[in-house]
Amino acid sequence: MTIAAVLTAAGSGSRLGLDLPKAVVPVAGEPLVVHAARALLAARAADGSAVSQLVVTAPAAHLDEVAALVGGVVDAAASDVRLDVVGGGRTRQESVAVGLAELVDEVDVVLVHDAARPFVPPELVARVVDAVRAGHPAVVPGLPVVDTVKRVGHGDATGRPVRETVPRADLVAVQTPQGFARDVLERAHAVGSGLGSHEATAASDDAGLVEAAGVPVWVVPGDERAAKVTTARDLLVAHALTTGALA
Ligand code: CTP
Ligand code: MG
Repeated sequence: MTIAAVLTAAGSGSRLGLDLPKAVVPVAGEPLVVHAARALLAARAADGSAVSQLVVTAPAAHLDEVAALVGGVVDAAASDVRLDVVGGGRTRQESVAVGLAELVDEVDVVLVHDAARPFVPPELVARVVDAVRAGHPAVVPGLPVVDTVKRVGHGDATGRPVRETVPRADLVAVQTPQGFARDVLERAHAVGSGLGSHEATAASDDAGLVEAAGVPVWVVPGDERAAKVTTARDLLVAHALTTGALA
């Protein structure tokens, strides 16, 4: 088993509202992309295998900076991980496609992980790899949904009518890394790049593209620590948890 990870870090972080792209914003003294890369490289599958190629999609104006930052992580890991840093696409899906094009021939398992989930525990990464290794062609981490969820209809500026309450036991909130047999993910992306914008929006993650291609997707237990940093509030929480202020 040869594992590659595509680490998506090319977004602008518009909802965070800072001058910097989100991936290079520091938490606890280090940029999000550094934390995320370190977690991916620290993971060990049950058979002892680890990520041997890391492809990072970076904002065009920050390619050298991201290459130096993640290069430092690879050097510190003291393993012979191959690192590729490439400019991202206009959308996350396009960035993943650009990353997939960099994979070396030997790779047969691909993880796709968002730099926006910097504190994913290495055990979660390993859990995803192990499930792919066990024969699931597509694997996502999922957490139970804590809120009551309702489907709503069209309303007006003052509100919307409830159509139904969705049974919560049937729902999971999905995280990254998502893991795939390489051929399955490549095929799904090839089809996905031809989808119209409506269908592409419906598949907001890689597993969604795989599902659309009719391939079964398997959910393994997620982890709260893999929470996504989207807003300034998320950044504050991540900082507080990491530095121990909220632990
Ligand atoms: N991403 C990417 N290429 C893009 C857009 C997003 O590689 N064209 C990456 C982001 O860097 C992030 C992950 O995909 O790690 C998830 O995206 P999101 O959290 O939406 O990050 P941003 O797009 O940067 O944030 P925003 O949507 O607030 O602008
Ligand atoms: Mg985005």
